[in-house]
Amino acid sequence: MQDFKTLFEEIGGTETIEKLVEAFYPRVYADPVLSPLFEGDIEDIKRKQKMFLTQFLGGPPLYSQEFGPPAMKQRHLPFEITPLRAQRWLACMKEAFHETGLEQNPASVLFYDRLIQVAAIMVNSPE
Ligand code: HEM
Repeated sequence: MQDFKTLFEEIGGTETIEKLVEAFYPRVYADPVLSPLFEGDIEDIKRKQKMFLTQFLGGPPLYSQEFGPPAMKQRHLPFEITPLRAQRWLACMKEAFHETGLEQNPASVLFYDRLIQVAAIMVNSPE
């Protein structure tokens, strides 16, 4: 019997993802550097992000079931993502980790490292 868990399970599954995403987007929409990019419905993006992060951490492939291949770099091309915006996105996420208590979980270090990597890939414009 194997006893390793996915990162999704390690961090507490759906309940943790829900809390994290709920804590994250109000910060993004309130951030003067990020908010000009977010013109869509906050509930819609929250739903997509919950599905994406579930899959990203090794949980069920909810995002792909509805939207197809993640292709995140490509989906972000319409938005001007500068190094500063990537930094602000990650800062909002760090605060959300703190607010939800996720940062107390040792697995959150791996999770955050993966977000740093993906955020860097999303950068598509100079400052
Ligand atoms: C680096 C800074 C980032 C910026 C500035 C940014 C910005 C955005 C914007 C403006 C949208 C569209 C929102 C809308 O529909 O109104 C979006 C969508 C999305 N972003 Fe990001 N993003 C960043 C990084 C990331 C990262 C690191 C991830 C995943 C780990 C991610 C996952 C998503 C997902 C899942 C969507 C929804 C895609 C869809 O429409 O199906 N983003 N992002």
